[in-house]
Amino acid sequence: MLRKPSRSEETLLFAKNFLQHPKMLGSLIPSSRFLIDRLLGKVDWKRARTIVEYGPGVGTITAHILERMSPQTRLVVFEMNEDFVRYLRRAFPDPRLYVVHGSAETVQRELDRLKLVGADYIISGIPFTTMPMALREKIMRESREALNPGGAALVYQFTRAVLPYLRTHFHQIDQDFEPRNILPARLFYCT
Ligand SMILES: C[S@@+](CC[C@H](N)C(=O)[O-])C[C@H]1O[C@@H](n2cnc3c(N)ncnc32)[C@H](O)[C@@H]1O
Repeated sequence: MLRKPSRSEETLLFAKNFLQHPKMLGSLIPSSRFLIDRLLGKVDWKRARTIVEYGPGVGTITAHILERMSPQTRLVVFEMNEDFVRYLRRAFPDPRLYVVHGSAETVQRELDRLKLVGADYIISGIPFTTMPMALREKIMRESREALNPGGAALVYQFTRAVLPYLRTHFHQIDQDFEPRNILPARLFYCT
């Protein structure tokens, strides 16, 4: 039987990949428990049927989403880093989880392929400010269009630099802050 990798193995894999792809990862250390609780506290678990996560890394947030979501809910994660994709498929053999090796801008195409009707929540930890503008725009547009009525995008970043871009795609953005994370994190709840 496969052994679930330890927390230190996860941290090491994450840090190793940060050294190779610093811009794509945007952080040396996975999100803290405080940030995860604050972020996932915004999810109405009874309503969520399809949840999407961008940039799961080694699954630090993914594990908590799987723990809290119902047996009927589906979670689709998009990860560009091949090492992380391989790791996620091994570490989370959960039939409710689909791991897509690809970029967030393919969200609509992948949901269609999986025969899932839109997303109720999109949870995003990808570094929006270091990516090319055209890609950022495409991801935001595709995300807004993939959200079901009443759905929300939950975005966490280390600065507020993303806010003007979020404002061009979403009507309402509520902001929050979690200091107990390396680095302290800004949260944006976009509807
Ligand atoms: C800061 S890490 C977040 C990891 C984890 N979610 C956490 O909070 O600890 C960002 C992740 O986004 C991934 N990523 C970057 N650009 C992406 C894109 N366009 N689509 C999907 N994943 C992306 C990176 O490979 C990396 O795993």
